[in-house]
Amino acid sequence: MNIPAFWKNINLAGLNPFRKEEGFVALDIGSSSIKMVEAAGEKTGYRLVNVGMLPLPPTAVQNNMVADTDVVVKTIQSLIETNGIKAKRVISAVPGRAVIIKKIQLPAQGQEELEANVEFEATNVIPESLENVNLDYQVLNYVEDGSKMEVLLVAVKKEIINSYTQVIQGAGLTPAIMDVDYFAMENMYEANYEIQPDTVVGLIHIGARYTSINVLKSGVSTFTGDLQVGGEAFTESLVQALQVSYDQAETVKVTGSLEGKKRDDLEELLKPSCESVAEEISRTLSLYAGMAAEEGIHNIYLSGGSAKVPGLCALLGERLGVPVQLAEPFRGFNVAKNIDKDYLAESALVLAVGAGLSIRRLGDK
Ligand SMILES: Nc1ncnc2c1ncn2[C@@H]1O[C@H](COP(=O)(O)OP(=O)(O)OP(=O)(O)O)[C@@H](O)[C@H]1O
Ligand SMILES: [Mg+2]
Repeated sequence: MNIPAFWKNINLAGLNPFRKEEGFVALDIGSSSIKMVEAAGEKTGYRLVNVGMLPLPPTAVQNNMVADTDVVVKTIQSLIETNGIKAKRVISAVPGRAVIIKKIQLPAQGQEELEANVEFEATNVIPESLENVNLDYQVLNYVEDGSKMEVLLVAVKKEIINSYTQVIQGAGLTPAIMDVDYFAMENMYEANYEIQPDTVVGLIHIGARYTSINVLKSGVSTFTGDLQVGGEAFTESLVQALQVSYDQAETVKVTGSLEGKKRDDLEELLKPSCESVAEEISRTLSLYAGMAAEEGIHNIYLSGGSAKVPGLCALLGERLGVPVQLAEPFRGFNVAKNIDKDYLAESALVLAVGAGLSIRRLGDK
């Protein structure tokens, strides 16, 4: 799907009308853990003030929304308390795969008329009852000599948004900004890398259950896609290959050792799963290639916990025929002294969405 730049401004919460730079903390609520990132803007750029992460049980987040409110609220509270976070306003995100985006054409009309018509038009293309969604729209451009306009309709199920805002409120915090994870990744890129005009860059974020793909041209998102595959699939393949429990397989995958014994064959064991993930990514990227044939991707940055699967990064590069490297989500940040450098180096890839969220502010353009 095609997404224009204004989406960087999305704020699905719309609850806090005050613009203030201080007191924001980013929470990326994922299916395996919650990530917390606090950053501040300063004259020389962004300063990373706090980071933290706590695991969630596999039942906490399901089908793109918070399923077990209690455990998520408690985990947020403990992240905030253990790290001594004073900020009360939260920047968070819904998963991009939970957002419905449709482009429609309408006869050219004024803003008020459009405002009155848009709901009716949306009923034809949004596969959800409008009572159940938060709907937003944006005029993209005019076509056919100005007689028609292209309008982007965006809908997110209320149920999904509410599941996230409720846990934030439940933890005694204010959901100030609700972004979409794709755009957090775009912000992460912008904060850390120099944007070259006309350069096409792919951002691939592989979590525990999902993979998000975002293609940027000149730093702006032009294509997004997602796959229902992530680290759990790698772990399951090890359960089969080694005939061990899920927890043991997870430990081998992350540490490289099983019961104190190093598995030198780990990369080989994980290879079939890497191949199948590469194949799925390649298929999604070919959709992008289909709409922009002449604009090949120059570089791909990989992030998310599963970016660290041994051999995956190299194999992706081979299969996609594009240089693939691990992202550095805090490359452009000044890092506060209290942050343990080893911990940050170890967890930076997992914090990529959090990094992008942490620098969002109300009223951003
Ligand atoms: N060193 C490592 N090697 C391989 N895999 C790892 C490593 N560290 C973490 N992972 C995997 O990364 C995944 C967690 O990544 P991440 O925190 O980005 O996901 P999430 O945000 O919780 O999930 P999602 O976004 O899919 O809902 C887990 O599957 C975990 O096993
Ligand atoms: Mg995630």
